Amino acid sequence: MRAVKPKAAGIMTSSVAGTAGYDEQAKTLAEQYESIEFETVHRDVLHLFPPPPSRVLDVGAGSGRDAAALAGRGHHVVAAEPSSELRLEGQRRHAAAAIDWIDDSLPDLARLRARGECFDLVLLSAVWMHLDAAEQRAAMASLAALLAPGGVAILSLRHGPVPAGRRMFDVTADETVTLAGAHGLACRHSGTRRDPHARPGVNWSVLALAREDLPRKDLPG
Ligand SMILES: C[S@@+](CC[C@H](N)C(=O)[O-])C[C@H]1O[C@@H](n2cnc3c(N)ncnc32)[C@H](O)[C@@H]1O
Repeated sequence: MRAVKPKAAGIMTSSVAGTAGYDEQAKTLAEQYESIEFETVHRDVLHLFPPPPSRVLDVGAGSGRDAAALAGRGHHVVAAEPSSELRLEGQRRHAAAAIDWIDDSLPDLARLRARGECFDLVLLSAVWMHLDAAEQRAAMASLAALLAPGGVAILSLRHGPVPAGRRMFDVTADETVTLAGAHGLACRHSGTRRDPHARPGVNWSVLALAREDLPRKDLPG
């Protein structure tokens, strides 16, 4: 298990830098995340999600809103969440959902990669901007390794003011598409979103990045 530091009474904080602030506010944040429906958050890219039953990985799954919705649609869902307090919130709130929760983190997703699985959909909803430039480079390699041939990764990047106590970096859609291209991932969608919580100054980029090599069964001849 990754080392965790006791912070306040009863709260263990993750040693993953990008999770700064999440353990301490897990209950409030989970409430906020769950106040919006999966379909509302992702409606601009839902047509790019593979049909069920597909192998889905939700990285930085938070309260499990998206993992639970995707499991409910018949997908096989793994939810990776390094904040133990958010993971517990997710497991509690979505106890009835068939979600395989795992304590793992970008950039390496080492535990998942050791399992040797690959995925038709990797969702990184509101996660990428928690990584610095070096972490993003390593994380894109992990992403490419975890995607099955023909698989797609959906990323949303937050822009705007950084909440107190959180660790975020400025990252553009264009530089992320360039980095993806260097790892054999092609951009299928690049768009923008208003903030679903209408926070002042906050807006989003949304990307769909695909491994365009065909699954073996679909290869001609
Ligand atoms: C804004 S929340 C988004 C939660 C959820 N994906 C959603 O859309 O509601 C960001 C999430 O990223 C996770 N996170 C931060 N750094 C991470 C890292 N290095 N690897 C994986 N997840 C990370 C946090 O713990 C948190 O759950």
